[in-house]
Amino acid sequence: MTDAGVQTAPGAEAGVPLSRREFLNYLWGASMAVFLAGAGGVTLWFALPRFREGEFGGVFTLPIANLPPPDSPPADFPEGRFWLVNIGDITVQDERQPADYPLEPGVKAIYKVCVHLGCLYKWVPTNDRFECPCHGSKYLKSGSRIDGPARRNLDMFFIEVLDAAGNVLSRTEPRLGSQEGSSVVIPPEAVSLRIDTGRRVSGASNSKPGGGI
Ligand code: FES
Repeated sequence: MTDAGVQTAPGAEAGVPLSRREFLNYLWGASMAVFLAGAGGVTLWFALPRFREGEFGGVFTLPIANLPPPDSPPADFPEGRFWLVNIGDITVQDERQPADYPLEPGVKAIYKVCVHLGCLYKWVPTNDRFECPCHGSKYLKSGSRIDGPARRNLDMFFIEVLDAAGNVLSRTEPRLGSQEGSSVVIPPEAVSLRIDTGRRVSGASNSKPGGGI
């Protein structure tokens, strides 16, 4: 018990009155403890990965065997919301490819959302291109826009190619003269791909009829 209006420190002997200064010190200490616990929690929250491996927003690791052969139709990965495209020599030489976006052989993981207003575009095998059902934007397998109201090429996700020891052999790089990501070369010793759906690389500006800057 304490007298009315007299505080007692936690764990202090009952009956020993607490001065105003001591009481304020305890209060300050308790406030700091609460603040530091909160700050630590916030730091931990930002330090932890937000998304698990294999869910959209996180990283997808695929064996090289899952790659479609060069120049084949794009492979659909709905859980990662991307098309995996293997650009070979035939795709590089496609006459429809706009001259402003020369291609190199390699792999791209192309985000499935149309860069015009966000619809899901489709692969149309008979026309060998992606087409958006909403307003008619059209894109080549490379991700380059060739028609419609979209004003840039399709976005893609960052890729790393790994060997058996987990070393990075090649990765998406910014293409010279463009903000767009490059095709990623697959060296012979590659065993897997890491596709980071939390790192999206915007397609380059493209607004001319037929595609181009
Ligand atoms: S949302 Fe695709 S063309 Fe408009």
